[in-house]
Amino acid sequence: MKPSPRLAAGLNIWPSYKARDFSEQVRNLFNDRAEAWGRNYKPQGKLTWRLHQFCSVLGEFASPPAEVLDFGCGTGHLAKHLGEHHYVLTACDLADQMIRTARRVFGETDIKWTTLPADWRQLPFVDRSFDAVVASSVLEYVGNLELVFSELARVLRDGGVLIFNVPNPKNGQRKREDWAKRMTRRAWIRRALCTIPRIQRYLTYLGLSNNRFPLGEWERGASRHGFQRMHAGHRPANRPLFLFAFQKNALTEHIGQRQAGSPV
Ligand SMILES: C[S@@+](CC[C@H](N)C(=O)[O-])C[C@H]1O[C@@H](n2cnc3c(N)ncnc32)[C@H](O)[C@@H]1O
Repeated sequence: MKPSPRLAAGLNIWPSYKARDFSEQVRNLFNDRAEAWGRNYKPQGKLTWRLHQFCSVLGEFASPPAEVLDFGCGTGHLAKHLGEHHYVLTACDLADQMIRTARRVFGETDIKWTTLPADWRQLPFVDRSFDAVVASSVLEYVGNLELVFSELARVLRDGGVLIFNVPNPKNGQRKREDWAKRMTRRAWIRRALCTIPRIQRYLTYLGLSNNRFPLGEWERGASRHGFQRMHAGHRPANRPLFLFAFQKNALTEHIGQRQAGSPV
């Protein structure tokens, strides 16, 4: 299979760390995947389990009809799934083709879709608009994590929950990816491998999936923005992805059981 023209011509294998270039490369990567992404969520799809995992963890902290932001929603399958469980959904992504596909496939739903500019600095939502934010496999691709944590904290209500998953560096597959990344820092190895389109695409993904931290570092990063960890993760600690749940300004109140008109 030939690489798509955009990948072959435009994308550096190792991203430039200029914020704008980086997020444009992320957008290009996922725009190229937009048409096929939904296959991951077929009944036996390789990502279908995520829908149930996020929904069940969300359910521990926020009852429907809590307002939820699906940050980095891709083709919107998680948003759609949570909508079916009577949450009220807004979904955003910087990959316009992902949002376009989501609108086409799930246009009948009440989900509010938003395309973000690649170099966004502020989310287009007012302070304290959501009871929960979910981000499924997104934060590993973010160029400026401090900015993203601070924006997610801003749009969440006090006591709101932030649920996200990230690559787990303790997992064997992640260790191999880390090794591959270090090996291909040598330009001649990279050049040789990139003659094979499949490997080029894989290395491009590895280069952009840039935020690979020990789990404690995620916790410290989130805590700088007022988040307190709530959940140890449903899956065993050695799985490829690790799920976190944090609460903003940890109030103990369970969202959805509040009185109508209460400020939380
Ligand atoms: C691996 S896909 C996951 C999509 C979806 N959440 C899912 O689980 O199917 C990562 C998504 O995050 C989006 N993304 C990456 N960085 C982003 C950012 N800074 N702001 C918004 N979306 C971002 C990408 O465009 C892409 O659609």
